[in-house]
Amino acid sequence: MSTIPKTDTKQNIPTDFLPLEGTDYVEFYVGNAKQAAHFYMTAFGFHALAYAGPETGVKDRASYAIRQHKLTFVLTTPVRPNNPMADHIYKHGDGVKALSLRVNDATGAWEETTQRGAKSYMEPTTLKDNDGEVVMSGIHTYGDTVHLFIERKNYKGVFMPGYREWSNPHFKTTDTGLQYVDHCVGNVDWNQMNPWVKFYEDVMGFKNILTFDDEDISTEYSALMSKVMSSGNGFVKFPINEPAEGKKKSQVEEYLEFYNGEGVQHVALATKDIVATVRDLMSRGVEFLKVPTSYYDDLLERVGHIDEDLEPLKELGILVDRDHEGYLLQLFSKPVEDRPTLFFEIIQRKGAKSFGKGNFKALFEAIEREQEARGNL
Ligand code: FE2
Repeated sequence: MSTIPKTDTKQNIPTDFLPLEGTDYVEFYVGNAKQAAHFYMTAFGFHALAYAGPETGVKDRASYAIRQHKLTFVLTTPVRPNNPMADHIYKHGDGVKALSLRVNDATGAWEETTQRGAKSYMEPTTLKDNDGEVVMSGIHTYGDTVHLFIERKNYKGVFMPGYREWSNPHFKTTDTGLQYVDHCVGNVDWNQMNPWVKFYEDVMGFKNILTFDDEDISTEYSALMSKVMSSGNGFVKFPINEPAEGKKKSQVEEYLEFYNGEGVQHVALATKDIVATVRDLMSRGVEFLKVPTSYYDDLLERVGHIDEDLEPLKELGILVDRDHEGYLLQLFSKPVEDRPTLFFEIIQRKGAKSFGKGNFKALFEAIEREQEARGNL
């Protein structure tokens, strides 16, 4: 890939050839979209937004769009067998299909990325209805996962053409304070982290902003390596993990085995009040990984002063880490499917722009206890 970056002649600095405005939505392919949408609404506090399916002229699938603040999920299921959606679910179980990115120009985004070597998933396509138009395009990334580019500046409808507004006046959910996607992590195969880092650099103009090697992320038994890729403006962050050699099977290997390949490991959801959000999620049945209470014995010595009381953090198992810019609070759910694959992270940033390196060891030991219980360590 030898494309020379475009240059802003006034300042003589490379311009961002793929300016991303953020995550537009995360689309999951699931075995039963109606029930999955209900789970995310009741357990995670999303509200109903829009529906597409046979009744709206979309013959091959049912899709439910749900929203909470700036966070939009789409749950999609095929209504017949023998198609790529059904194959995806057969192979991977429920999982993330599309990390959709908001752009000002979906045609340009597709041209810039495919010229740089991306494999096209969807050529620029204009969808129209009475509320205007949405232009979509898409490229493949790791595994069967794709990035869709969504241009919606000329659209004022509830979600997208093909969808109709969807609500149930008898069923109202209250939100849990989840605000937006902070980052999405991909698990890739042995020795595939660096090729995918290069893909995000060359094809999407991302930068590698942080690297964790197996020394940083290892326990007595297992290890992984990770590099964090960030879009030019920092709005979109994709850490990429690969397994590393350890005495036993690492969590990334377990994922690759049960997902049947590479895919999204976790989506991190931001909150402004992690204690309130996690307490609410737990009361609705969301299950989280637990670190031993000894984690809290010397927490304040490790991270210094924090605004929060220690007691609720300890009660809920919320983790804290500090970097040179501030600190962050985070907690990881258990997988949200029966396969040990996709899970969620809840994160509150207080200045820190990092990813909780100081928590990796305690966390991975917690994950290994779960792997052990599944017989997969
Ligand atoms: Fe994360």
